[in-house]
Amino acid sequence: MTLTAPESPSAGSPPHHETVAPVKLWLCPNDALPPDLAGELARHWLDEREHQTATRFLFERDRRQYLVAHTLVRRALALEAGLTEAELVIWRSSRGRPFLQPLPGGLPRGGDHLDFNLSHAGGYSLLGIVRRQRIGVDVEGLGREARGLETIVTTFAPEEQRWAAEVPEGPRRERRVLRLWTLKEAYSKARGLGLGLPFDEFSFSLADDRGVLGFRPPADDLAGRWRLLELEPVPGVLVAVAVPADEPFAPHLELHHGFPWNRAAPHIVPLPEPVGAPRG
Ligand SMILES: CC(C)(COP(=O)(O)OP(=O)(O)OC[C@H]1O[C@@H](n2cnc3c(N)ncnc32)[C@H](O)[C@@H]1OP(=O)(O)O)[C@@H](O)C(=O)NCCC(=O)NCCS
Repeated sequence: MTLTAPESPSAGSPPHHETVAPVKLWLCPNDALPPDLAGELARHWLDEREHQTATRFLFERDRRQYLVAHTLVRRALALEAGLTEAELVIWRSSRGRPFLQPLPGGLPRGGDHLDFNLSHAGGYSLLGIVRRQRIGVDVEGLGREARGLETIVTTFAPEEQRWAAEVPEGPRRERRVLRLWTLKEAYSKARGLGLGLPFDEFSFSLADDRGVLGFRPPADDLAGRWRLLELEPVPGVLVAVAVPADEPFAPHLELHHGFPWNRAAPHIVPLPEPVGAPRG
């Protein structure tokens, strides 16, 4: 497995005093799994519902993306839980959010709760796993059409629309828009709401380069409750992660690159402190 160093300036060694389970993130390019192999693993590992979904794609490219994403989910969860891939029971909430069904006696590798969240776009799958509480993740590739971007911007809060419009159309505008979009998706997916949470009801203020400076939450949530991380683990691939801050997560995240064939050493990325409401 190739470990690509994230561009995070703060990446370093894990703190020794940490005993609680870290946040785990898997970024897997479709190319990491040859199509025949993805099909074979899927045949053995996916459940009936996943098999049915896989048959519905019109384009082979989309089917491949789906198979890589869902074999990744089962492989990484199996390693984390100590179960086999086909044994994992995954159910969906009424809003479509997948959950791992807990086992009455706990998980073979310890603990009784794993939460995960998946995103797949532009030839990449991104999977986040935590041992407690919730996680939301999103991955987006740069290189969108300008028209699609302007549609995305219309869903933003007014202050975010203004921030996006401060830079001219082109790569800088696209980066601002997709940074906001990945964070909004990660947050709403952590909450299990997906697009059911109107994206203009909450907002982020971002540093010019990378990092969340402020978070104005929706009316039913509080500022300062979330750790919000932005990464660009591969140039042009934007990633956002949201985890609640009211649980004793280790203040770092383990970033794995590729398909989880083994337990190769991850890259360690510190998780930022929770952010409050933006000033002004
Ligand atoms: C979750 C949602 C925001 C995904 O957006 P996306 O950018 O297209 O897709 P991503 O690749 O980032 O994420 C897709 C994955 O998120 C997960 N997901 C689905 N619904 C979710 C939810 N409500 N909360 C958290 N995660 C969810 C799934 O694992 C899904 O992949 P899968 O279907 O292959 O298992 C969107 O599909 C959604 O809101 N779905 C809920 C249904 C809904 O409200 N529909 C209204 C459409 S206007």
